[in-house]
Amino acid sequence: MTLSPEDEVAALTAQLSRWSKAYFEEDAPLVPDADYDAAMRRLQELEAEHPTLKRSTSPTQRVGSAPLSSFESVTHRRPMLSLDNAFSREDLSDFHRRVSERLKVHDVAYCCEPKLDGVAVSIVYANGELVLAATRGDGSTGENVTANIRTVQNVPLTLEGEDIPSYLEVRGEVVIPTDAFDKMNARASALGEKVFVNPRNAAAGSLRQLDSRITAKRPLSFTAYSVGVVEGDLPDCHDATLRQLSQWGIPVSDYMETVTGVEACEAYYESIAAQREALPFDIDGIVFKVNSIAQQERLGFVSRAPRWAIARKFPAQEVSTCLLGVDFQVGRTGAITPVARLDPVFVGGVTVSNATLHNSDEIERLGVCIGDRVVVRRAGDVIPQIVSVVQDEDGLPDAARTKIVFPKACPECGSDVDRQDGEAVVRCVGGMSCSAQLKAVIRHFASRKAMDIEGLGDKLIDQLVDEALISTVADLFSLDVATVSGLDRMGMKSSENLIEAIDQSKATTLPRLIYALGIREVGEATARALASHFLTLEEVMAAPVETLEDVDDVGPIVAKHIRAFVLDSRNQEVIAALLTAGVNWPAVSIASGDGPLAGTIWVVTGKLESMGRDDAEQRLRALGAKTASSVSAKTTTVLAGPGAGSKRKKAEALGIEIIDESEWLTLVEELK
Ligand code: IVH
Repeated sequence: MTLSPEDEVAALTAQLSRWSKAYFEEDAPLVPDADYDAAMRRLQELEAEHPTLKRSTSPTQRVGSAPLSSFESVTHRRPMLSLDNAFSREDLSDFHRRVSERLKVHDVAYCCEPKLDGVAVSIVYANGELVLAATRGDGSTGENVTANIRTVQNVPLTLEGEDIPSYLEVRGEVVIPTDAFDKMNARASALGEKVFVNPRNAAAGSLRQLDSRITAKRPLSFTAYSVGVVEGDLPDCHDATLRQLSQWGIPVSDYMETVTGVEACEAYYESIAAQREALPFDIDGIVFKVNSIAQQERLGFVSRAPRWAIARKFPAQEVSTCLLGVDFQVGRTGAITPVARLDPVFVGGVTVSNATLHNSDEIERLGVCIGDRVVVRRAGDVIPQIVSVVQDEDGLPDAARTKIVFPKACPECGSDVDRQDGEAVVRCVGGMSCSAQLKAVIRHFASRKAMDIEGLGDKLIDQLVDEALISTVADLFSLDVATVSGLDRMGMKSSENLIEAIDQSKATTLPRLIYALGIREVGEATARALASHFLTLEEVMAAPVETLEDVDDVGPIVAKHIRAFVLDSRNQEVIAALLTAGVNWPAVSIASGDGPLAGTIWVVTGKLESMGRDDAEQRLRALGAKTASSVSAKTTTVLAGPGAGSKRKKAEALGIEIIDESEWLTLVEELK
């Protein structure tokens, strides 16, 4: 049966809307990309042949259209206001006091939402069809970005459901989720294109493209947070209004919550603040809105902000300051890192006076010079970074800017420096004769997750190295109270305690010792994997590169680092000296551990949904199981997620039990 062009257009439109919703919003494609593309091409063809059938809400509009010469301006029928800010608990309490006094209500209900850090837009639906979209602009007049907004995949072009107002203006924020932003920047950088400084700038830049085909390629996402002019009925509370929008297909925040009173608002703030780094998008605070629309109307507005809402801001994660100078630090592996000395600034909740500049490529990419004003970012526990140079017209004249010159010799020991092909990092070749490297190696050796030597702080390590009392980590075990008590600020008691702590650290575990050795790119997880794969230090040291690569998490580069480390005669001497000094650990035995799974050996492979493989292994070990990285006849059970390949096959061949993640989670639950 052949369909009429009208019917075919309608059928393709419905199909493409369904497919793109599944693909973009539910991350669950219904058909292969090629089918989607074919349907889209067929619809484009039909629309070209029958221009009268082309609707502004057609899915073909999502791919963008020919460039505009400029944006038209749009006057908002109702101004788009801004919000007052609260920077502290007290500011928020003051807001609540003002609200409850004006309303003469003690228990005010507030709707709480994350404050998305993106670009504000207004989207108008007339009789359920998207007809206009505009940026906020100065609040009264914005730019017509309809063609661009039509390309945003989660913005419905047509609303669905009952009682849709004849005119509905939806307001919200357009953002680029952080994951998509990272991917987009990685791609741009691989192609040698300009990278964006942050997701907000990228969202703003994408929305202000005159060529909507470019916007269509950007991973923009919209979240509605309020309505503007509405001709039709809406619920009498803010939260119910947003839920109603959601029923018509308009995306709203998943994190919205309605609470009563200021204490509950503060608790919501704290809980979202704690999740901030893990959220899929950038936020810069929390917006609290009086939930009842009648109460909102009673409160009204002052100047350009409503009295019924406030934004409790998080500490800024990006601020600008002056780059005063650059120091070069030598790390454990000899890597020379440029560290920016900054005019101290408050960022991400702490005062920052140093930030990493990573390496010389990064300095070049940023185009940064000493004397520049730079943007510093500190998010969560991440080391402060310099993200860009402030491009200010009244910036410094070039003569006042000092170029950053990488040292030609190690700034600590004067040895040569070397940059391997393909590596961005410059290294000091001095090894342990470089006091900076030796100090860093000892700091790592003594650290909590390594040998855990309490009381061996940085100052003490500096003195021990500077006074040539130790030249390898093994020398720590020859120190005595008399020597240590001769050092600055070391009394008799603290010296005795230190020697005691060093002595106690000798009883360790194999994973800790491997980690403590400080092999390049061998972190805690790799050290554990090596220990459980090889069971003894001798086996690790004897393993050729190919065998090392059999270990989970060990790729060719890490394997090469391990091999180079164990083949170095100086390292062999240090290891021998550690053993002579009495460093010891319990044998890594197969039937280790108590617990319900004691005596069993598990291999975890494939991708798990609820946690990483390391975490799954940790849970198994906590239940007494031993975990191994390769399947052998001794393996009891294989926990296999999707994508499990050769290990699964081997287990099948050996007739070993294989269970999937949900079976495993049930088992773990039962054993708890
Ligand atoms: S409500 C009249 N809710 O913050 C109140 N705004 O500083 C209108 N924003 O321009 C704003 N997330 O772009 C509201 N959940 C949220 C928001 C939010 C982000 C932005 C919005 C506005 C700015 C005000």
